[in-house]
Amino acid sequence: MIKVLVTYDMFREGFTELEKLYDVTFPEGRDFSYEEVYEMIPEYDVLCSMFDFPVNKKLVDHAPKLKLVSNYAVGYNNIDVAYCIEKGITVTNTPAPVTAPTANIALGLMLDVARRITECDRKLRRLGKQMKVGVLENLGIPIDGKTLGIIGMGRIGQALAKRAVACNMHILYHNRHRLSPEEEASIPARYVSKEELLAQSDFVSLNAPYTPETYHLIGEEEFKQMKSSAVLINTARGPLVDEHALVKALQDGTIHGAGLDVFEFGDHPLPELLELENVVLTPHIGTQTYETRVIMAQTVCNNVIGFLEGDRPITRVLHP
Ligand code: GLV
Repeated sequence: MIKVLVTYDMFREGFTELEKLYDVTFPEGRDFSYEEVYEMIPEYDVLCSMFDFPVNKKLVDHAPKLKLVSNYAVGYNNIDVAYCIEKGITVTNTPAPVTAPTANIALGLMLDVARRITECDRKLRRLGKQMKVGVLENLGIPIDGKTLGIIGMGRIGQALAKRAVACNMHILYHNRHRLSPEEEASIPARYVSKEELLAQSDFVSLNAPYTPETYHLIGEEEFKQMKSSAVLINTARGPLVDEHALVKALQDGTIHGAGLDVFEFGDHPLPELLELENVVLTPHIGTQTYETRVIMAQTVCNNVIGFLEGDRPITRVLHP
């Protein structure tokens, strides 16, 4: 019988179909560690990995039966895709269920920083009656009529653009590949160079995958090119931003604010960011709803079953 190893603890509802068909191993109440997976992997045909679980050369070389890595995420920077493909191992991801929730968090962070929602909440709690309130206090910035620059115009970038257009924002974008004129017109969005995007945008949202090319896509030089009133939003991957440079840019007013759902050095931001009022921080909750978690699990399973049975389409990762 086909053996499937799931590295992460997850709502079991999404895995019902998979469990009926194959011998599935789940961790109970915690995730499996890399070491545990390394020990177990020689027996398994399929690995279901989480976005922070490293599927590296060492693991692949210890997995003689492995045919498929079904990743629980749209991002797959945790996987050595080139090596998997070289070894004849298929890699899949979960783009569809991730798109809307991540775009929503990006929009939420943008509104939050602009209108100082979390900042006011923090101050009300911390200062109580001492908080300065009144019609001229706690002024925010509108998003209506402002320009949103989106770097990475794939599914999530486009979903964010459509939401922002509904808020009367103007959209600039920069991407590896330019959209077709029809796609651009349907948003509408204007393709510009990264430099122009940084110079023109009131809000800059990162929605690109993490690859060697996008490491520190935004650093000291880029902050200097941005407006001093600009807000940076990152819901993609932490290392796209040089977080030390971001701290400095926020502290010295090179840019106005930031909304971050991901951090450069793991699950937590640099401590300096916690001290800044003009920053909203969330711990990688872009897809964190019960509904999305279950649909992502079902997508992982559909990819496994579709790959093994050939009875349904799969979302295959074609190149690193
Ligand atoms: C979440 O971060 C994902 O890549 O799906």
